[in-house]
Amino acid sequence: MTWLITGGAGYIGAHVVRAMLDAGERAVVYDDLSTGIAERVPDGVPLVVGSTLDGERLGRVIRDHGITGVVHLAAKKQVGESVELPLHYYRENVEGLRVLLEAVTAAQVRSFVFSSSAAVYGMPDVDLVTEETPCLPMSPYGETKLAGEWLVRATGRATGLSTASLRYFNVAGAATPELADTGVFNLVPMVFEKLTDNAPPRVFGADYPTPDGTCVRDYIHVVDLAEAHVATARRLSAVPGTDLTLNIGRGEGVSVREMIDRINTLTGHALPPEVVDRRPGDPARVVASADRIAAELGWKARYGVDDMISSAWAGWTSNHPVE
Ligand code: WQD
Repeated sequence: MTWLITGGAGYIGAHVVRAMLDAGERAVVYDDLSTGIAERVPDGVPLVVGSTLDGERLGRVIRDHGITGVVHLAAKKQVGESVELPLHYYRENVEGLRVLLEAVTAAQVRSFVFSSSAAVYGMPDVDLVTEETPCLPMSPYGETKLAGEWLVRATGRATGLSTASLRYFNVAGAATPELADTGVFNLVPMVFEKLTDNAPPRVFGADYPTPDGTCVRDYIHVVDLAEAHVATARRLSAVPGTDLTLNIGRGEGVSVREMIDRINTLTGHALPPEVVDRRPGDPARVVASADRIAAELGWKARYGVDDMISSAWAGWTSNHPVE
């Protein structure tokens, strides 16, 4: 199989490319390099620089490289920005997907893996979120991911394309320092940035109805996440007409306070966090049930929070050398 990985120069996409190669699959990367980094694409893997809104170029790449499956990660992914720029998010994430699916179906590509998000659930009022938990996204970003799932599923039903939507929970860690996340938009890098500045990490709210008052999330190592893509891709190509929606998490809740404690311990810092106001729109608890993916694909996360923090820190310190 030759897989077109859109967004393959991004943080998660580059890990998917690596996992695909490790599994003996061929990969071609399609990325507009708006946030992607060309150096993340391994030698020997073609990198085509282009937008998912460019159907003609996509069609050409699919034909020229004999693409048989697509893993679509290229998207805008900042929740706050999506509130300011909803039209941009709908264009990039929904229209870009629609154009890609047109090229995919015209070329009779057989498999399509879609990068979705736990953001489709919004503020779930359950202990463990299953794939049957109602989807009530709270941001334009989450809406574009839910609309994307609908588009993918409808296309699969109409054309026989094998499809899967993977709902990522909170992704952290890195396979190697070079592949680390360079954005400072999530808890782990935001705490690293504070520690690097010798400032206390910030806790956005400690009055949530959770055991220690801080928000609880399900953190997943990016290497585990990438391996879930390989398992999914293989199922799609082996079983035509597949239609899967899967949570990718560990099924274990970790609070903000617990994360900061582990980060302090593992990085050798001891700055107690500062509690500041809640960040608007943050749900108290979002933890996956990971039962369906275990039953369907036999996939289970291998790494824990300490591996995520240590590997992310190795990446952070290589990008932010201490003077
Ligand atoms: C985690 C917790 C913060 C920084 C978002 C998107 C989701 C997905 C992943 C996708 C929250 C708290 C953070 C800090 C803090 N995106 N926090 N101090 O909001 O769960 O999920 O990213 O592509 O769709 O919504 O992740 O890492 O931003 O925050 O207390 O300095 O850490 O309030 O409770 P979140 P996050």
